[in-house]
Amino acid sequence: MSTPALSHEELRSLFLFEGLADEQLDWIAENGRVEEFPSGGVVAREGEPATCFYVLLHGTLRMTRMVRGDELEINRTDQRGVYCGAIQIAVQQGNESYGSSVYAIADTTFLALPAAEFSVQFRTWFPMATHLLQGVLLGRRNTDFVIGQRERLLALGALSAGLTHELNNPAAAAVRATASLRERVAGMRAKLAKLARGDINPDLLEQLLDIQETLVKQVGNAPKLSAVQSADREDELTDWFDDHDIDQSWDLAAVFAQAGITPVELDSLLSAVGDEFLDGALRWLGYAVETESLMGEIEDATTRISTLVGAAKQYSQMDRAPYQWIDVHDGLDSTLVMLSGKLRDKDGNKVIKVVKEYDRTLPQIPAYAGELNQVWTNLIDNAISAMHGHGTLTIRTALEKDQALVEVCDTGPGVPHELKQRIFEPFFTTKGVGEGTGLGLDISFRIVVNRHHGDLRVKSVPGDTRFQVRLPLTEQPDA
Ligand SMILES: Nc1ncnc2c1ncn2[C@@H]1O[C@H](COP(=O)(O)OP(=O)(O)OP(=O)(O)O)[C@@H](O)[C@H]1O
Ligand SMILES: [Mg+2]
Repeated sequence: MSTPALSHEELRSLFLFEGLADEQLDWIAENGRVEEFPSGGVVAREGEPATCFYVLLHGTLRMTRMVRGDELEINRTDQRGVYCGAIQIAVQQGNESYGSSVYAIADTTFLALPAAEFSVQFRTWFPMATHLLQGVLLGRRNTDFVIGQRERLLALGALSAGLTHELNNPAAAAVRATASLRERVAGMRAKLAKLARGDINPDLLEQLLDIQETLVKQVGNAPKLSAVQSADREDELTDWFDDHDIDQSWDLAAVFAQAGITPVELDSLLSAVGDEFLDGALRWLGYAVETESLMGEIEDATTRISTLVGAAKQYSQMDRAPYQWIDVHDGLDSTLVMLSGKLRDKDGNKVIKVVKEYDRTLPQIPAYAGELNQVWTNLIDNAISAMHGHGTLTIRTALEKDQALVEVCDTGPGVPHELKQRIFEPFFTTKGVGEGTGLGLDISFRIVVNRHHGDLRVKSVPGDTRFQVRLPLTEQPDA
């Protein structure tokens, strides 16, 4: 309901307008309308186009804003002259939407000004104030932008540090093994030449090659011995070598023990080659066994490197569409690989146990895969750091009605009840200066809720903390 507007005197009694000139008040009187709202009436709805600038004349208003799915009251006032609605007229060029909802909670009247026209007038009347206000807004946007970039860089930095560390170990192992391999192969060539010069008969050589094949196969299948077992095995072998006058046999003993060779096999070797060739044959076979296990090491190391590179590729979503149908397990697995360095202490011992409880029947979901990986990174990183070097990290997936559920659980001390809301606030952290930015959960929340229309919650008691992400199974209209 609206009636024609107010006199100059009435307008000047509102603090916003007290210093205006007569012709400015004329404009306001001509363009403004007095609007009445009954108790409970909706004056403005957050997110809808901001068409009116409201000044409270009489009554009480209540202002709310949606915060993480809850409508939070941010103001309640009966102060005559307060304003609400399209309050960014100085900085927005008519495309503003209401930043909060406003309700009348008693019979309430407002002076309502049309936002687009009032905006034009405001700028003509107060050009300098307009510049200053725009400066403030621009400054804030710049700050947000710089912080956003910094966030991304930090995430990237942490990740590439982790990845570099992870790649370094297998790469160094492969280099080391390759150098040893070169030495052993040279040694083997020399031994073979020596055996041949010793007039070894072709049948015997063939027999030796057979034994070599058997031993080499054995290397791959040899059961892993405990430290005590292999020391015992080496002792037995050393005794055998001593009995047969083989000098400097300790390195041979170590190599043969590792390959699972026992004195029984050495006896049959002896009966095949005889005393004359025993020493040469043993050393030659030693080289063969060693080269085999070195090649195994190189294979392991290079496989590990390509697994890491594959995970990094999947993690970064290089060359892939940002929004696509994905299997959530791929992202979870690659994130775990990327963070695997954090599961170990500085000596490389595994200190955090990882349990995957995946429901493999979970259908593919439409998602921003790269962004979800950031969510998994933040949640897993938080879980690991909450456990302070020991505990179990459980990643669980499940189908829940029309949503996919991903739970990141840890056995750390948990989130105190009074902090459960605050941890999602930007910059809220309990970590020391330089350790945490307090942005991890804020970013994750925005990705899950705003980008995917999902839900992010925490359930926590000491020893059992679960961050639960729920994601829709179907494409969302504006995703
Ligand atoms: N799994 C968890 N167990 C206990 N507390 C947690 C857990 N995850 C998060 N928190 C609490 O929430 C706070 C905010 O987490 P958030 O990820 O937003 O920032 P941060 O981890 O402190 O910093 P950053 O993520 O930038 O390294 C943490 O400081 C911690 O107090
Ligand atoms: Mg964090």
